[in-house]
Amino acid sequence: MTKKYITTAIPYMNGNPHIGHAMDYCLADVCARYLALLGNEVKLQAGTDEHGSKIAQKADELDVEVQDYVDEKAEIFRDFIAKLGVSYTDYVRTTNEWHERRVQDIWRKLKKHIYLAKYEGWYCTGCERFITDKEYEENEGICPDHLKPYEKLEEENYYLRLSDFKDKLKKAIETDEMLILPGFRKKEILKLLEESPDVSISRPVTQLKWGIPVPDDPSQVMYVWVDALSNYITVLGYPEEDISAWWPATAQFVGKDILRFHAIIWPAMLMGMGLPLPKTLVSHGMVLADGQKMSKSIGNVVDPNEVIDKYGIDAFRYFFLRHIDTFADSDFTWKKFEDAYNNELANDLGNLVQRLATMVSKNNVKIEELNGASEFSSEYKELMDKYEFAKAFDYVWEKVQGVNKKIDERKPWQLAKNGEKGVLEDCLKELVNDLLNANYMLMPFLPSASSKIAEVFDGEVKPPETPLFPKS
Ligand code: MSP
Repeated sequence: MTKKYITTAIPYMNGNPHIGHAMDYCLADVCARYLALLGNEVKLQAGTDEHGSKIAQKADELDVEVQDYVDEKAEIFRDFIAKLGVSYTDYVRTTNEWHERRVQDIWRKLKKHIYLAKYEGWYCTGCERFITDKEYEENEGICPDHLKPYEKLEEENYYLRLSDFKDKLKKAIETDEMLILPGFRKKEILKLLEESPDVSISRPVTQLKWGIPVPDDPSQVMYVWVDALSNYITVLGYPEEDISAWWPATAQFVGKDILRFHAIIWPAMLMGMGLPLPKTLVSHGMVLADGQKMSKSIGNVVDPNEVIDKYGIDAFRYFFLRHIDTFADSDFTWKKFEDAYNNELANDLGNLVQRLATMVSKNNVKIEELNGASEFSSEYKELMDKYEFAKAFDYVWEKVQGVNKKIDERKPWQLAKNGEKGVLEDCLKELVNDLLNANYMLMPFLPSASSKIAEVFDGEVKPPETPLFPKS
């Protein structure tokens, strides 16, 4: 069996989960389930990013100990990940003692590429990164994402000598040795890489206490991204264990806002450790609420728990994997969600299962010899292999709609009425077969619904007692 390793970005613990956080998990989970169905042995990592000044500030505001604060949030996120039906195998919290110890070992391994220097320039606490003079000018001194003025900083930091890796990294990106998806982001990253100075990878402990101490220098704490990015390999046991069976990752899923860290700093760190680069970085778009970025101040943050509690996990995954584009920014509105639920999930799929199972059982058709489909079509595979999950989902939905169309054309009820028993049996078997074919391809997307559907047609056909997707 081939081993495949899939990763998700680990969210900051400075707030509660919102629907945007679900994207990494849903996409990575589809990928992991798909690869497992193809016969691969798959590991899927998940976890939480618990260090950094934003988190310490939040705990301060609430007047609670930072560790208590992150313990509580990490629990909320873990429940959320479980609720999404994510099939993760490995879990990391950046405050795990083993993670901190391994990150310090990683720092030691990078030592020859690290130097200490004075920094004078701009910093954004929201982005937790230094800002180049060019960016400062372009944005007129205000962070466009956080709408806060950049802060002037003057301090000593450790730097990772990016220049040691630039040429090699440029080549890896250009030749797709590390494939960046979607393709148009590759150009952006190459440009950024060209312009990137060496990376500051520590902060004075006077500025940032809540982080992993730099080994052998108690005056400095590691930059949160060095700590966080390392999670992908500390969770596998690196450097204490040989991770070559699992690393490089097959695909790392991240939002477009953090692609730059994954496409520049992370590969530089890996090269510095002598480790191979991930095979693919898949960067998804942002989920917007009513056309706007979700934010607490606008008050348009959508709680995923509310959606799942009301409509169930299949409906949640259905919408976010099909109607939220895999790569581009897409909009969530309750109206769009409810329309998709009622018109598509409930009508196209739920009713189909009900109708077909009822006809099969009423007419006493034995379908045991159909052993269900267990193959992906080549069109589906092609889309899935390119990480075009929303398109692959569209394709499967066409198949589902195709079964509905066939029922309308063949009119099995007419065949029953005319007493054409043999033709009716063949017709129903064909319809069930078509549905099970589509259902198999639904498995990575809607694992819970598709296993219920497979059960309905397994052996003695029993129509569901309650609709799979009750209309809202
Ligand atoms: N802690 C870092 C990631 C470290 S990975 C080594 C971080 N955390 S985050 O909480 O801000 O974001 C976590 C993930 O959620 C990222 O992939 C980010 O792009 C994604 N999203 C956050 N808001 C989002 C939307 N509104 N829409 C889609 N994805 C969003 O960045």
